Amino acid sequence: MLSTRRPFLGFGLGLRKEHFEAVLQARPPLDWFEILTENYLVDGGKPLYYLDKIRADYPMVMHGVSLSIGSTAPLDWDYLHQVKQLMERVQPHWVSDHLCWTGVEGLNLHDLLPLPYTEEAIEHVASRVQQVQDFLGKRILLENVSSYVCYRHSQMSEWEFLTQVAERADCLILLDINNIYVSARNHGFDPQVYVDAIPCERVWQFHLAGHTDLGHCIIDTHDHPVREEVWALFEAAAKRFGPVSTMIERDDQIPPLNELLNELAQARSIAMPHWRLAA
Ligand SMILES: [Fe+2]
Repeated sequence: MLSTRRPFLGFGLGLRKEHFEAVLQARPPLDWFEILTENYLVDGGKPLYYLDKIRADYPMVMHGVSLSIGSTAPLDWDYLHQVKQLMERVQPHWVSDHLCWTGVEGLNLHDLLPLPYTEEAIEHVASRVQQVQDFLGKRILLENVSSYVCYRHSQMSEWEFLTQVAERADCLILLDINNIYVSARNHGFDPQVYVDAIPCERVWQFHLAGHTDLGHCIIDTHDHPVREEVWALFEAAAKRFGPVSTMIERDDQIPPLNELLNELAQARSIAMPHWRLAA
């Protein structure tokens, strides 16, 4: 059962090394940063130097790509120990990773791969999430991934699967609005149906990002500004979920910080009218 009220951090950005200096110099007006966990699992050096300096001025959350919660390989406890150490340093508001698998039997495929949407997979993932949460001492957020393949033996929709995992594991959801749009186009479902099916109280964070539209399929490249269709879906999500901490991810063709701040202002201007009404 959920007992904690959803915190609202405001509007943030993914912290990228290209912006370290600009953030330190300008102290830009944004509410929080999301850091990529794996970039700071080091003993020292520049990443940790900047991390500590920037953390002194901004709230942070941690976002990982290596948990591989859906894999049948054993959980990587060395990795989890490192994550826990970093949590002690950063004191993040929360920690997230993806509802996916990234490899098996020692093989890392370096991709966030979708799972078959089956009862068996729900049981498997939920029990692993519970182990991770017990170890970290707090609930984690799982993010919906973008996908390009699906499984013949799936028994339910992606949104039913995500909901079931979250409820059975008692974990939280990082809802990536762009990923919903990308998967909806690639697999031919209605993204609004997805948004409407997710339980409001479990969604603690939104991701926004840009994609590449190849016509016959969409690739989740994070190298463009957020597209109009994704802004529209974000507005629908803002109406449905109420105030949710929102951020923009950019991982390629990274522009000057000011461009991302302008994009973040757009997110704010879309969401806040609805959130004022909801307050
Ligand atoms: Fe994302």
